[in-house]
Amino acid sequence: MTKEMTQEEIRSRIAEYREWMIGVRRHLHRCPETGDEEYETTAYIESLLKEMGIRTEKLLDTGVLGILDAEDRGGKCVALRADIDALPVQEETDLSFRSQRDGFMHACGHDMHMAALLCTAKILSDLRGFLTAPVKFIFQPAEETDGGAERMIRAGCLENPRADYVLGYHVAPEYPAGTIAVKYGYTHASSDMFDIEVVGVKSHGAYPDEGIDAIVAASQIVTAVQSIVSRNIVSTDPCVITIGKFHAGSAGNVIADKAEMSGTMRTTTPQTRKVAMQRLKETAEGVAQAMGARAFVRYRPGYIAQKNDDSVMDVVMETAEECIGKENIFIKEYPSMGVEDFAFYSRERPSAFFFVGTGYRGRKNYGIHHGKFEADESALDIAVLMEIMTCLKLMSSGTDS
Ligand code: NI
Repeated sequence: MTKEMTQEEIRSRIAEYREWMIGVRRHLHRCPETGDEEYETTAYIESLLKEMGIRTEKLLDTGVLGILDAEDRGGKCVALRADIDALPVQEETDLSFRSQRDGFMHACGHDMHMAALLCTAKILSDLRGFLTAPVKFIFQPAEETDGGAERMIRAGCLENPRADYVLGYHVAPEYPAGTIAVKYGYTHASSDMFDIEVVGVKSHGAYPDEGIDAIVAASQIVTAVQSIVSRNIVSTDPCVITIGKFHAGSAGNVIADKAEMSGTMRTTTPQTRKVAMQRLKETAEGVAQAMGARAFVRYRPGYIAQKNDDSVMDVVMETAEECIGKENIFIKEYPSMGVEDFAFYSRERPSAFFFVGTGYRGRKNYGIHHGKFEADESALDIAVLMEIMTCLKLMSSGTDS
């Protein structure tokens, strides 16, 4: 890293572009688009990247990859990621720039992610003469739906040039603007959906002995499954099994021959995931058999668990201490049992994912996905500073300078 690219230099450039960045954020906030529908969003991002002289590649129908070509002087190539999709949530704020699309809102703050990454791209583009490797900007669709990250990777976003590291973050209204939150190891759970079909024999409700009651069998399964977390899973390892859907029966005086249930399983470690999946299947099948019925369990794997690389996290921590001071860093103790498709980048490359506080001090902050969710835009400065400074440190980790 050269002398010209000190933290002060980056800070002054952020200040210079602050109004522009807020304008970009508000424009995006007005026009939310959900997963794989982000056509206007993509076109807007692409046009801004091109204005900056950054090469773009459309790897999927929506979402775009920006490549800042810099002379390869032995540095490491860092990929910075922002997700771009909004949610089918009705906005309930009074903001002057609130959503112009009824029933849709950037309620997860991805508009903040995009605006900050565009500002990061703008500053790095200005300073490209000082870079020792190319930088990649991944504007990825469909984080909220089916995992656009995995499709972007399959389409080659980490190749040509090969990204050595990936960096990402999420806004966090539960932490005040001016702070960040970090966690080593697992930050988010894996998610597996499952369906259980219980098959019995139909009969008249007055003669249960002539049938096999699928409702009674399925109810026993719901109860028995509760013991998996408490009796089969290592108690220090998080695991959630929820059956959130239960449908059975057609009439009050008929013994149901079928019951259908669906649920979600959240785990972090592969061992716990394996044990939980196996025990759920065995429990459902075994309990059904004991009741004379049959159970069929089907899994639909979702996102994998998101795990940070220790050495990249060390760089994030060092950067955060230099940029905002130790007193403004929260260390998260536990992973979220929610999901984050950044996990797919972490599986491919040493990566780190952290949280940027966007809460307002001294007033109630609604959580992400809420119609009243708002983000303190002063946090954008910190997001950009963290992205740039961490990127530069990772980049120079490959050189002697
Ligand atoms: Ni999100």
